[in-house]
Amino acid sequence: MAFPKHVRLVEMSPRDGLQNEPGDVIATAVKTGLIERLADCGLSHIEAASFVSPKWVPQMADGAEVMAGIKRRSGVRYSVLTPNLKGFENALAAGADEVAVFGAASESFSQKNINCSVAESLERFQPVMEAAQKAGIQVRGYVSTVLGCPYEGDIAPEKVASVARALLDMGCYEISLGDTIGTGTPLKAKRMLEAVAKHVPMERLAAHFHDTYGQALANLYAVIEEGVAVIDSSVAGLGGCPYAKGASGNVATEDVLYLLNGLGIKTGVDLDKLVATGDWISQQLKRRNGSKVGQALSGSTTHSA
Ligand code: HMG
Ligand code: MG
Repeated sequence: MAFPKHVRLVEMSPRDGLQNEPGDVIATAVKTGLIERLADCGLSHIEAASFVSPKWVPQMADGAEVMAGIKRRSGVRYSVLTPNLKGFENALAAGADEVAVFGAASESFSQKNINCSVAESLERFQPVMEAAQKAGIQVRGYVSTVLGCPYEGDIAPEKVASVARALLDMGCYEISLGDTIGTGTPLKAKRMLEAVAKHVPMERLAAHFHDTYGQALANLYAVIEEGVAVIDSSVAGLGGCPYAKGASGNVATEDVLYLLNGLGIKTGVDLDKLVATGDWISQQLKRRNGSKVGQALSGSTTHSA
């Protein structure tokens, strides 16, 4: 068991962060401003938008405008969520570099989130996989509710493993394991990961932990110790899932970076710029900065870990 030397941070704030923001619809210019600032921090993989039903998730209705509006930085992958072929076609037309399909380990969550069973969702992803392959676009796969479901409670690790394996077999290059409601604890996270890693190679796995119960950093420490080297996070801890009542934001990118810096793990991301970006978006949204590191360091100029 050794920590990875390098971790890829996949930035969730423009999508997972903003999809659930209450109140007015966020201006497209704020979204593009956020994405450009994140790229400027050194983040090389940014989930920029969703191509889902605008009736279901109104905050993501301007995905095409967001993709058209960003000044792209070379070396950065701009990925988007696509639940079905219609979403994929719109994403392709908008110039997405990569797409992601999203399934769940819980039947009830699958119904609430994408209006179909787990098995039906996998069937819907098939044409997306085929179209993506034709277009030369890589597909990431999410499994939600891997450490608990808002409707069903505990989820068997074997169920997580079987959905993750199905996504891998379909052609997803990476499977991101979502603790959608943030109820997991480190031992539970390790056990879930062990079950999944029997079916999916560790280097194909990512951790996507929400911080509702304040456990996300501890859970991440547990899984990177097992070899996970891709972490999804959201600047200022923005986020939540509209179909998971009470789910708060993703773990804050600033907090994850501070942890990784302390462990000597490279990411290529600049903490000072990230803290400034977290402050900026919190001000834009008139919301409290959800990053502990952001709160501690904002206002000062250098922030070495
Ligand atoms: P449905 O109502 O079953 O779909 O929704 P449908 O195929 O019957 O279509 C109904 C209407 O939606 C039609 O329009 C379609 O054209 C339209 P109408 O005829 O009524 O005017 N439609 C679309 N419009 C735009 N883009 C599309 C699209 N597809 C259909 N792609 C559907 C099924 C999946 C579309 C719906 O349930 C949906 O959009 N759900 C989105 C859920 C979502 O975005 N959740 C949040 C993201 S997941 C998440 O946050 C978890 C994650 O972070 C990991 C974790 O934390 O665990 C990834
Ligand atoms: Mg999420």
